[in-house]
Amino acid sequence: MVRVGLVGCGIISGMHLDAWAQVGEQARVVSVADIDPERAAAAAERSGARAVEVETLLADPEIDAVDLTLPHHLHREYTERAFAAGKHVLCQKPIAHTLDDADAMIAASQAAERTLVIAEATRYDALVPKARELVDSGAIGRPLAVQVSMNWWQGGEYLQTPWRFDVGLMGGGALVDGGIHYVDYLLHYAGLPVEISCFTRRVREAYAGEDLAFVQARHADGLLSALAISASSRHTPSYPLRVWGDEGSVIAERGRLVLRRERGEEETFELQHSGMLGPIRDFLACLATGGRPLSGGPEAWANLAYVHAAYDSAETGRVVRLDSPPTG
Ligand SMILES: NC(=O)c1ccc[n+]([C@@H]2O[C@H](COP(=O)([O-])OP(=O)(O)OC[C@H]3O[C@@H](n4cnc5c(N)ncnc54)[C@H](O)[C@@H]3O)[C@@H](O)[C@H]2O)c1
Repeated sequence: MVRVGLVGCGIISGMHLDAWAQVGEQARVVSVADIDPERAAAAAERSGARAVEVETLLADPEIDAVDLTLPHHLHREYTERAFAAGKHVLCQKPIAHTLDDADAMIAASQAAERTLVIAEATRYDALVPKARELVDSGAIGRPLAVQVSMNWWQGGEYLQTPWRFDVGLMGGGALVDGGIHYVDYLLHYAGLPVEISCFTRRVREAYAGEDLAFVQARHADGLLSALAISASSRHTPSYPLRVWGDEGSVIAERGRLVLRRERGEEETFELQHSGMLGPIRDFLACLATGGRPLSGGPEAWANLAYVHAAYDSAETGRVVRLDSPPTG
């Protein structure tokens, strides 16, 4: 049984606690902590864990792993503290608010010989592997381009978290926050591009950083990609992935993947979305076998590198070239 301590009892923590409760005897959340004692108490009540101070949680020898559901600028500090205390770390996306912090977290994981998994649930969807299988089978002919778009109206409790109003603490705007899930779909499918250009816009004053981001990229194999993120549009469908080929296309929409070919030929595949259980199960498997996660430091680093290259391009008005992500 893996004993888990969760740090940060805000919006997303409930989803984590509920997912941990579904893994049965494999793991149990034994402690929760938050600088706000009321939040820690509410999380304790929801999960049956005890509410403790963060220092107590990190120093507890009974705790094997720490689940970090904290604001972006705290990911590095708490990951390093957890590794220093000998714990494994599951940390929410994005890996960090800066690439320096992301590098430091990956290095700390290697130095401590402890597992780092970034809880990027999209990486565990059936969508990308299924799309890849269809494309590789030749179903759409020659793949030419990939398009991803995420449209939503961000409001409510999200716009009440103070750190989301500080671009420095967030590491950007919508692209690095909700948008990074769709960056993950794109990079899981197509990998990190070699060149990227981006325009951003801040439409709503209520939003810190950009709430619109349009990114175009060229990949090493010639594939072109486009990613459009909006946190300020309503009633606009999102498309986690659309792959265009010269004989057809693969389109992911509303939990389905549709293969369209000449003469109206159409085939539909239902997709499974495991939510937070995907990363949690992978995390537990890595702890049991010493294996590599699907969403580890390097994958999350690449997502952040894409975002930062897009921000650089938006700021300078130039096309930005990307370096290779670290391995291991
Ligand atoms: N996967 C998703 O769909 C999804 C959705 C929302 C948020 N997230 C991610 O989850 C993380 C948290 O986001 P959120 O929306 O839950 O934020 P939030 O502000 O609601 O929660 C963060 C919690 O951390 C606590 N906290 C702050 N500083 C602390 C400290 N020094 N020590 C202990 N606790 C501290 C706060 O009191 C708060 O309860 C972010 O990385 C965010 O990007 C992911």
